[in-house]
Amino acid sequence: MIKQPKLILSILFLIVVRLALADGGMWIPMLIEKYNIETMQKKGCKLSADDIYSINHSSLKDAIVQFGGGCTGELISNDGLLITNHHCGYGSIQKHSSVEHDYLTDGFWAMSKKEELPNDGLTVSFLILMQDVTTKTLENVTDEQSEPERQSLIRKNIEKIRKEVEDSSRYKADVETFYSGNQYFLFIYEIFNDVRLVGAPPSSIGKFGGDTDNWMWPRHTGDFSMFRIYADKDNKPASYSTDNVPYHPKKSLSININGINENDFTMVFGYPGHTQEYLHSDAVKYIVEQRNPVRIKLRDTKLAIMRDHMLESDKVRIQLSSKYAHVANGWKKWIGESKGLERIDAIQIKKNFEAQYANWINQESERSTKYGSVLDHYRHLYEDNSSSMLAREFIYESIFAVDVIGLASKFNSLLPKKEGEKIDDISAFYQSTQSFYKDYDIETDKEVMAALFEIYYQTMPEEYRPEFFKKIETKYHSDFNKFTSDVFKKSIFRSEEECKKFLDKFSVKKLNEDPIFQLYQSTIDFYVLKINPILSLSNNEMETLDRLYMKSQIEMAGDSVLFPDANFTLRVAFGKVEGYEPADGVEYKYKTTLSGIMEKELLGMYDYVVDNKLKELYKAKDYGRYGKDDEMPVCFIASNHTTGGNSGSPVLNANGELIGVNFDRNWEGTMSDIMYDPDRCRNIVLDIRYALFIIDKFAGAGYLLDEMNIIN
Ligand code: ARG
Ligand code: ASP
Repeated sequence: MIKQPKLILSILFLIVVRLALADGGMWIPMLIEKYNIETMQKKGCKLSADDIYSINHSSLKDAIVQFGGGCTGELISNDGLLITNHHCGYGSIQKHSSVEHDYLTDGFWAMSKKEELPNDGLTVSFLILMQDVTTKTLENVTDEQSEPERQSLIRKNIEKIRKEVEDSSRYKADVETFYSGNQYFLFIYEIFNDVRLVGAPPSSIGKFGGDTDNWMWPRHTGDFSMFRIYADKDNKPASYSTDNVPYHPKKSLSININGINENDFTMVFGYPGHTQEYLHSDAVKYIVEQRNPVRIKLRDTKLAIMRDHMLESDKVRIQLSSKYAHVANGWKKWIGESKGLERIDAIQIKKNFEAQYANWINQESERSTKYGSVLDHYRHLYEDNSSSMLAREFIYESIFAVDVIGLASKFNSLLPKKEGEKIDDISAFYQSTQSFYKDYDIETDKEVMAALFEIYYQTMPEEYRPEFFKKIETKYHSDFNKFTSDVFKKSIFRSEEECKKFLDKFSVKKLNEDPIFQLYQSTIDFYVLKINPILSLSNNEMETLDRLYMKSQIEMAGDSVLFPDANFTLRVAFGKVEGYEPADGVEYKYKTTLSGIMEKELLGMYDYVVDNKLKELYKAKDYGRYGKDDEMPVCFIASNHTTGGNSGSPVLNANGELIGVNFDRNWEGTMSDIMYDPDRCRNIVLDIRYALFIIDKFAGAGYLLDEMNIIN
């Protein structure tokens, strides 16, 4: 009897906690029918689960591809035409660019299929089907086995499952874990490798706003590019050949240009990469208080040095621009992530949940036997290992952030593994050396080394530093500039010429004596001897814990289904078109228009340059059927839970028609990888009407629209 008020209270608390944690979600297409379709339909979706994912007839899933390994793309014609982001096609566009044909700057439009450009190494994968293979994957696995034993058995089982598929078909098979080792799914893919570049706007459109606007709303980026998939005469994958013909997909998306309204149902169907929504509070604490600050500080320093050098010389600016964008992308995301997690008090939310969880555990003795030690065990692991984890961050973000150490690491494979072993083919090294130095600026790199090493030295105690720091301390009296300048002076890696000379007269002894190579080796020795033994042990324990914690959270959630973390497999997220309040007293609208591009140009910044043709179209309000009320829509935001890898994903309306292409998230919402906050997390979408307007009115490639199914 006395228990009752407590029980009611705890039930109330449970509901609140769950609301705080369980919104958002990236759902498994095969299980939409079971878990989501009802909710989706209540929110306005007009589709059946079968329209979204089916293995018996064509469904939306057949129009979606994983593009190039890290992005998503979608088919928009029955002749294999696909659309993805500009930043996803960037590498391919860059490879075809030269001073004479600068497609990055000027854009590229094939005016006929003959002009489309092949891309060596670029592939797209279609999901044929997925299947729950948990029982097969866990065959002979018992709770008594150690984690390494368990993992090795699982690997063997997975290999068997994959082989069965791959030996009996032309498909590729993958088995992926869901819910931290509690469930396994088989994915069967058909992979195409003749994928040709069809069109890309100039960077002033496709990358409008650059790093200034990256991760930000309001946004005005025309972030799209187009490719075409080619197949052999039987519509099967084939390596590039002039005999290949456009691929005819089982399904392509219709494009709806009627426009969007606030609160419209939206759905994102794509390949999100990695999220961590079910972490322990100490893991979130480690991220917010240790990992992110270190990453941000090191990248802050590196970016400032790069910026200085890029401002001084056009040559350096061009050489470093792609590297800069890459370093800045993570840096800016983590800043937003930390701020967001702090604002919502994520650690406290997790702690509240854990208190509730502990209560739940204590309600039944069987539970407390199975899960009773989980929370404490996590706490100890983080207490004992966070310094080693931080040392690993420093190794990646400071030592390996020095470009030339990255190059030196490649040379390691030139060392004989055994005494007297013949060395591998050296010729490949000439090529990688040449491409390295093409985009290399030694003055920047030297400064980066001195500055980042010093931060490492100042932050981490001696036992968490590689051996070479001792020499800097004793021989150089901690003068990092002097140390760096000496190291570079004596190294073969100081220039392309010296490096090539070394390759001409390759000597193991000389490589081993090289001071930059030694920095690499000293770091690896330190990692292998001091850090890895600790981390691999704790990773094993962590794996067991994650599995138990996830399993028990699922049990505790009862009837409300928890979505599995992203793992680069096809997922469905749903939400609606909506703005948000980024701060007290501020409201952001859900859409942007071309006028905003002209307003940004007035700020006179490098990232806000507007093409004259676009200005003319704007002045004449020549928007064709793509504009509305004298305005040209550009981007919009919605509350779909997305992450890296979702770039290029189709954003669909209630009927499953394409209304936009996903490309980013808002800064206040990058925390969604760890905790999704429905009030502030938004995905940023290119309005499909802007893409069509650019193709048609700006580029004059309107013929491409003839093969699309456009609804208006
Ligand atoms: N933030 C987006 C995503 O993670 C877009 C990155 C490309 N754009 C840029 N300006 N760097 O990948
Ligand atoms: N820009 C990301 C991508 O490239 C998407 C995101 O993180 O929201 O996949």
